[in-house]
Amino acid sequence: MRVLGIESSCDETSAAVVSGAGDDVRLESLVILSQDVHRIFGGVVPEIASRAHLTALVPVARQALLDAGVPDTGKGVDAIAVTHAPGLVGALLVGVAYAKSLAATWGVPVLGVHHMEGHLFATALDHPDAVPPFTALLVSGGHTLLLDVAAWGEYRLLGSTRDDAAGEAFDKVAKLLGLPYPGGRPIEMAARDGDPARHRFAPPMLHGGQQPGDADYYDLSFSGLKTAVLRAVRAAEAAGSLDAERPHLARGFQDALITTLAEKTARAARAHGRTKVVLGGGVACNGALQERIRRAVSPFGGVVFAPSPTLATDNAGMIARAGHWRLARGEHSDASLNAYASLPIPGLRAT
Ligand code: KG4
Ligand code: ZN
Repeated sequence: MRVLGIESSCDETSAAVVSGAGDDVRLESLVILSQDVHRIFGGVVPEIASRAHLTALVPVARQALLDAGVPDTGKGVDAIAVTHAPGLVGALLVGVAYAKSLAATWGVPVLGVHHMEGHLFATALDHPDAVPPFTALLVSGGHTLLLDVAAWGEYRLLGSTRDDAAGEAFDKVAKLLGLPYPGGRPIEMAARDGDPARHRFAPPMLHGGQQPGDADYYDLSFSGLKTAVLRAVRAAEAAGSLDAERPHLARGFQDALITTLAEKTARAARAHGRTKVVLGGGVACNGALQERIRRAVSPFGGVVFAPSPTLATDNAGMIARAGHWRLARGEHSDASLNAYASLPIPGLRAT
């Protein structure tokens, strides 16, 4: 089965074609257009994002079809998968409206895909073994989820953030440090030159007394860490030493954040007897985070699968891959398919 995927939930306009059967699904093409315009605002401006999707989507989808050798009559495409939640509603509507029209024109089914379920499937396009059962850590600009994945479509929510998402924390701390948006990569680069002993921030929501069953055993929180960094930045500014302290502050922040993420991911894998850990979302690009999680799970035989940067950040390949699995089970949406700012992941249980 061959599926065209469309993604427009935030500031990437993307289209991709995947084909295959079962878990043997390959990427035939992937086009991602990043809306760099938001950099000058230090964050995504919803209406600008929607309008940029509107002008970019048709050429982006045409290019993805061309790269996959599919004629633009759609011959050879069996279905269309489109992100319909969660995200910026105006941005999502552009993708959903386009996907529905194209599906009607081609006479093929359309399926609405949950963006976070897409992130769960992304790594499987890079690593054929990144398939359930596994522990998943999804860390993006908008979400931070720790999940136990017994099988595709069977997700148990173990923990999530109580305030900022992990990527949001990177972005906000980058702003405090005078680094560009989005801040994850600039912080990772700056931290490489940082002294880990200079600013030791407490890893958030992490202490030895936490027991399985406690609400904070898996949950995460990053706003307190951000405030601690803010205080240290103010002190450095007052001393006129922010330029000299920047790499050390970036290192201290990153170390604290990844210590918590690695420990809680290892707790989840150990408690559920999982040896595979799958990472997803933009923050999964962080090499120090990947390394720390590897170290945390290797004592009990855990293996970590991280997506390539192209598939970690928002892309339509992951939407096509997740949609492919659901379509193969006979699922599809009808003409009432709509866009939603938030929606639970299908198949998600809280306990
Ligand atoms: O998954 P994504 O592309 O978009 C959302 O769905 O939000 O994630 C974007 C987030 C941004 O907050 C960005 O700062 C972060 O991923 N990010 C990183 C790195 N590269 C991107 N965070 C930490 N280290 C990185 N190398
Ligand atoms: Zn995302």
